[in-house]
Amino acid sequence: MRAVIAPDPGGPDALVVADVPDPQPGPGEVVIDLTATAVNRADTLQRQGFYPPPPGASDILGLECSGVVSAVGDGVDAWSVGDEVCALLAGGGYAEKVLVPAGQVMPVPDGVDLVTAGALPEVACTVWSNVFMIAGLREDETLLVHGGAGGIGTFAIQLAHALGARVITTAGSEEKLEVCRSLGADVAINYKEQDFVEEVKAATDGRGADVILDNMGAKYLSRNVDALATEGRLVVIGMQGGTKGELDLGVLMRKRAAVVSTTLRARPAEEKAAICASVVEHVWPVVADGAVRTLVHTTLPLEEAREGHRIMEASDHIGKIVLTAR
Ligand SMILES: NC(=O)c1ccc[n+]([C@@H]2O[C@H](COP(=O)([O-])OP(=O)(O)OC[C@H]3O[C@@H](n4cnc5c(N)ncnc54)[C@H](OP(=O)(O)O)[C@@H]3O)[C@@H](O)[C@H]2O)c1
Repeated sequence: MRAVIAPDPGGPDALVVADVPDPQPGPGEVVIDLTATAVNRADTLQRQGFYPPPPGASDILGLECSGVVSAVGDGVDAWSVGDEVCALLAGGGYAEKVLVPAGQVMPVPDGVDLVTAGALPEVACTVWSNVFMIAGLREDETLLVHGGAGGIGTFAIQLAHALGARVITTAGSEEKLEVCRSLGADVAINYKEQDFVEEVKAATDGRGADVILDNMGAKYLSRNVDALATEGRLVVIGMQGGTKGELDLGVLMRKRAAVVSTTLRARPAEEKAAICASVVEHVWPVVADGAVRTLVHTTLPLEEAREGHRIMEASDHIGKIVLTAR
């Protein structure tokens, strides 16, 4: 089969289309013939040599996919050859055939086409597991989403809004802020021109945000803690602004606040299966009724993954960059 790999670290041109052996399903595994996958920030880091796959995972890029089940291993009862599905992956999505543990395979939500479904698993599982399962956002609370116009941000705004929470978000241009508002953001802050801590305080009568979903890491750490409400929860899922920051524990203590940081990719298969099951139960109905949709910035053939990476790194996109099989 054809697959996109990054044998030597580098820029987007480091991505190469190669012929590799077809995967064979072991016990508990499923092979999916690819319809679509999508570009994630983690893929761009892996390509640069900064984010190697966890032990045992494929070195082919790609953290999510959609397609048709073409083989199942021993002990797989939930899926059959011919099923249309999508899946959360530890790697291997940029390929014509994708091997995945059966617990990370999900049905395609009603009303979503199979191509768009390839861009759903990573955002749905990341947002649901962090904002709801870990941070426990409630409908009477306020969520601050940084990077509101990205793949994660566009999904987080819609899901939190659909489930009744108030949403504040940051983005870097008026066009992106407008899209965020159209998705349900109550307040949209231009982080290039405004101080998000002041704006969050102003929008919450000085209380701050109950939950913050952060993609910036070190650069925003102390300001995020300042922007948290009493008993607030800061969930750091990205390190676009570096890994080492300074945390004032006094502020955290006075607020009885929490800082959590997670990566979905490295979590054990059983935890990912539990997240996928929870997503199917709680998120798919909201997607099926149209309250949450996937914003697709562009759709490219898998062979043009380099272009997908260029677009993501230029940060001109809004929503997801989809890659399709032939
Ligand atoms: N931990 C996990 O399990 C996990 C899983 C999935 C994703 N992630 C992380 O989540 C983040 C978002 O992923 P994604 O796929 O949505 O990427 P994406 O589509 O590229 O979105 C990233 C967004 O960050 C915004 N941004 C850049 N600088 C900013 C700043 N100073 N303040 C606020 N926003 C800023 C960019 O928009 P502007 O043009 O507005 O700057 C862009 O929309 C990434 O860091 C990714 O690594 C983590």
